Amino acid sequence: MRLAVLCIGGALLAIAAPQASDEGTAPGCPLKLKSAGTCGDGDECPYQVTLPPLTIQLPKQFRLLEKTMRELQSLRETVNQLKRSCMACTSTRQRLDRYLQEGKGETLVQDQPEGAERRGDAPPAGSGMQEMQVKMSRMSNSLKNARGQITLLQGRVEELSVLNMGTVESIVDRKVENITGVINKLSSSCTSLCPQATAPQAANITFAARDCSDYSLLGQRKNGVYKVVPDPQNGIFEVYCEMESYGGGWTVVQQRLNGSVSFNRTWAEYKNGFGDLRGEFWLGNDHIHLLTKTRDVVLRIELEDFQGVREYAKYDEFYVANEFLRYKLSISGYSGTAGNALSYDKHFNHDQKFFSTPDKDNDMYPSGNCGAYYSSGWWFDACMSANLNGKYYHKRYKGVRNGIFWGTWHNMSSEYYPTSYRQAFKTVRMMIRPKNYAP
Ligand SMILES: *[C@@H]1O[C@H](CO)[C@@H](O)[C@H](O)[C@H]1NC(C)=O
Ligand SMILES: *[C@@H]1O[C@H](CO)[C@@H](O)[C@H](O)[C@H]1NC(C)=O
Ligand SMILES: *[C@@H]1O[C@H](CO)[C@@H](O)[C@H](O)[C@H]1NC(C)=O
Ligand SMILES: *[C@@H]1O[C@H](CO)[C@@H](O)[C@H](O)[C@H]1NC(C)=O
Ligand SMILES: *[C@@H]1O[C@H](CO)[C@@H](O)[C@H](O)[C@H]1NC(C)=O
Repeated sequence: MRLAVLCIGGALLAIAAPQASDEGTAPGCPLKLKSAGTCGDGDECPYQVTLPPLTIQLPKQFRLLEKTMRELQSLRETVNQLKRSCMACTSTRQRLDRYLQEGKGETLVQDQPEGAERRGDAPPAGSGMQEMQVKMSRMSNSLKNARGQITLLQGRVEELSVLNMGTVESIVDRKVENITGVINKLSSSCTSLCPQATAPQAANITFAARDCSDYSLLGQRKNGVYKVVPDPQNGIFEVYCEMESYGGGWTVVQQRLNGSVSFNRTWAEYKNGFGDLRGEFWLGNDHIHLLTKTRDVVLRIELEDFQGVREYAKYDEFYVANEFLRYKLSISGYSGTAGNALSYDKHFNHDQKFFSTPDKDNDMYPSGNCGAYYSSGWWFDACMSANLNGKYYHKRYKGVRNGIFWGTWHNMSSEYYPTSYRQAFKTVRMMIRPKNYAP
């Protein structure tokens, strides 16, 4: 049988022995404990444990294990990354250290910055019997710890040497499970505690609402402007919340009421948002990205024309990518009464389209810029079956169809340029809410 050699060091079997003393080495154990420096009177002697890399020969079917190991490694990197971002956040630092201490024996401990713990713990200079005793007991604890870990290592080596696929797999599985648990815990402690450190303005807010639905669940039932923190790393901003209709908890991302605000704007303006949150506005592509990135949301679009006809369109998936990905739109799962104008047919589909503005052409139209032609920012295809950011007309109009447009609206088929008038809309609203929201 051909054998694949798999060196299991690092993640699976790595053991950290932060401090250990005594030259004792269990007979037959390849572990070495040695003093790592000179130690004067009263000084704490630094010791180090050297673990030789462990080489085990496994049948080639164990390639799966190797793959798992790589996944484990990437999980570990995620943990370390999370840990670093948490470290930067002093308020969580202590809690994290405590948590990591409890998790001793996990690979995490191994990567803890050298010295940080020890410096913090170092007693002030000057010796005394009591101090010595404290040190002695600490050292003997460390030793006990190291011995325990050696035994654990030996146990695992024996387990492994049985070369039983099931055993190895289940060990790896459990390990992955544990690390996943650690990631989740770190992740939640980061999101719940970091805002206060990273966004000083938010320090006064004991509860950091991620969006309007969080306020709604806290019992807020009033429409209005609220502060939200969808992503602690990106600070706080204001949104308009629809708390009274359709179960409340809606974060409004766009609103048209009376044409008081121009939507003929630049990339930078669409990025940051413009208008008046209590009137007409675009919340801003960066904000919409953050709101749709951190939670799975549904989008509700409401339209009303000047004849008083009101319809809605709801989408079960709505996601706007970041600026680097040109705010690409993901939209699917239509239901409602207004018709699915965002995914009209093969030729007019706004799903998976980039955002374009009059000054930035990312559309699918080869010989021109839809954003400039229709004077608005939108996820243009080549060019559109819907555009809710078009010009606000107070009544039906003729000419370039650059008004607010919803291609599945009533009587759209009778709109022929230049003989017929084009439909105008009185109010438009786009709002989002987490998919799992239960009013
Ligand atoms: C996973 O963690 C639990 C509790 O922290 C521990 O009892 C268990 O031994 C760990 N499993 C592995 C494979 O390390
Ligand atoms: C929170 O901010 C308000 C006004 O912004 C202030 O009146 C209040 O004292 C602050 N509370 C705390 C606990 O800092
Ligand atoms: C949109 O803005 C551009 C540049 O300011 C201007 O040239 C164009 O006429 C505007 N379009 C409309 C419909 O107002
Ligand atoms: C449009 O509506 C906003 C908000 O209701 C209001 O402040 C503004 O005065 C209105 N403008 C016009 C031109 O009607
Ligand atoms: C559609 O057009 C017909 C005839 O022009 C009209 O009677 C009807 O009210 C229109 N429907 C809507 C919803 O505008």
